[in-house]
Amino acid sequence: MRQVGVIGVGEYLPKRVLTNADLEKMVDTSDEWITTRTGIKERRLAAPDEATSDLAIKAAQKALEDAKLKPEDLDLIIVATITPDMQFPSVASMLQNGLSASKAVAFDISAACAGFVYGITIAQQFISCGTYKNALVIGAEKLSGITDWQDRNTCVLFGDGAGACVLSEVKTGGILSTYLSCDGSKMDLLNMPAGGSRNPASHETVDRRLHYIKMQGNDLFKIAVRSMTEAAEIVAKKAGLGLEDLDLIIPHQANMRIIMAVAKKIGLPEEKIYLNIAKYGNMSSACTATALCEAVKEGRIKKGDKVLLDAFGAGLVCGACIIEW
Ligand code: UT7
Repeated sequence: MRQVGVIGVGEYLPKRVLTNADLEKMVDTSDEWITTRTGIKERRLAAPDEATSDLAIKAAQKALEDAKLKPEDLDLIIVATITPDMQFPSVASMLQNGLSASKAVAFDISAACAGFVYGITIAQQFISCGTYKNALVIGAEKLSGITDWQDRNTCVLFGDGAGACVLSEVKTGGILSTYLSCDGSKMDLLNMPAGGSRNPASHETVDRRLHYIKMQGNDLFKIAVRSMTEAAEIVAKKAGLGLEDLDLIIPHQANMRIIMAVAKKIGLPEEKIYLNIAKYGNMSSACTATALCEAVKEGRIKKGDKVLLDAFGAGLVCGACIIEW
């Protein structure tokens, strides 16, 4: 089996910034509540004419440049998203065309906030067994389009963005272990009820505001802490490492209190946790993707470092992987 690693990263965040002060004018909330309960100060919003594929392609181009590859070098494109431009075709097909990656096989995956880690895991399988050589994995979301801007329970949490990485065979280091899980019995805690085959779009579904994210945050909070802690422990054990051997943790950025509770449980200090929640909020699959890119660009990840990606989200899904840089 070939060893697989990340050879390039890229990200794109839309320009428009929505601050907590802006939200105070939209719903009954306060900067104090949002900051203390979530750790979020601001988030980015895509322009009305910007779709998920537009964010994704910009992140992808940067990742390809970073990897020093041309689009035609790509064999596989996986886009993790819950906010595709349309039901079909896939965002990945749009990217294959937009990038002119004519040789690449392309598909989307729906694994919500754990989508980027699910995507990395799938790509690793294809490369390690020799089916494909170079893969592009992207986490991209325009959550602002499915956020109910009248619901203070959810609208303060989400933002838009995209992060990408290129995976290929590496001589040293690379992905040491991966772990994926799913508990569909609790899928009702976080969903968007309409727009699919169960409740196709109709005047009634629009009137009932069913095309927006519905979330039972409090129940999810406890499960998120438990699941992300368990995933970190399992994936470290699979890699033959102790948690203390990890150099950086890149957690899903849903809530600062969730992240700190996980860090405490696995016994790691704050300086080993990468955070971008304050400036971007929860961007689902794009959280770990952009955070990985920023951590590399900021020099937080050095050669030989062991980096843990740990994500949890709707499904309920969990995904973790350890990459030696
Ligand atoms: O992305 C992956 C999956 N998502 C998650 O993992 C998210 C997990 N959940 C959370 O992050 C947190 O549960 C939330 C941030 C969503 C909510 O925080 P909480 O500490 O669990 O608050 P709560 O839902 O228990 O609400 C506490 C109070 C309520 O008022 P009452 O009923 O106690 O009077 C809410 O109505 O806070 C109120 N509240 C707000 N107040 C001001 C809820 N949202 C707001 C708001 N501004 N934006």
